[in-house]
Amino acid sequence: MSTWANLGLQDSASPLMEQLIFFHDHALLILVMITVLVGYLMFMLFFNNYVNRFLLHGQLIEMIWTILPAIILLFIAFPSLRLLYLLDEINEPSVTLKSIGHQWYWSYEYSDFNNIEFDSYMIPTNELTTDGFRLLDVDNRIVLPMNSQIRILVTAADVIHSWTIPALGVKVDGTPGRLNQTNFFINRPGLFYGQCSEICGANHSFMPIVIESVPTNYFIKWISNNLNS
Ligand code: CUA
Repeated sequence: MSTWANLGLQDSASPLMEQLIFFHDHALLILVMITVLVGYLMFMLFFNNYVNRFLLHGQLIEMIWTILPAIILLFIAFPSLRLLYLLDEINEPSVTLKSIGHQWYWSYEYSDFNNIEFDSYMIPTNELTTDGFRLLDVDNRIVLPMNSQIRILVTAADVIHSWTIPALGVKVDGTPGRLNQTNFFINRPGLFYGQCSEICGANHSFMPIVIESVPTNYFIKWISNNLNS
């Protein structure tokens, strides 16, 4: 999760987020190179004393500074497209989780396991324990197995919400009447925090998401406990 003074991306906990960070760094590097070059050229203009009264056109330089930026843009466009299609690829998911956005909480359904379902509300500040995170912890966490392909189906019951977990590189809108799909693979155990990221009303800030990533045998134990109760 993000803590104070952390303005950058969170550490990745999934292969897709790792790729997203690589792409971010790649695009930023190109951006810095362009900024430095253009900045240098503009700065040096102040100290330029050369005047050419008969200069009307320069076919060659026009050609160069039109085509060169176009080629540079390709170096962003192709990795971007690669990532776009990579994010959409789904490869034999072992667990499917359905998440439904409400004003203002999330509810979840484990469709593979007798449709286990529960609501997940934020814990209010006055009920928070000392080890809890304010505005971020929920009463019922999602439990998911690590090192497995997870499919997530997102929808909403009232207005548009957005199911967003930065560390996993997941951000899907939940739209009433539609069922959106994405997938992720958590490559370590732990807690992963997220928040709704679609302005959905007065308590938009107060519908966080918490994933508890556990080894597969723990997950099976959790599922069977819930099936029996
Ligand atoms: Cu739900 Cu913002």
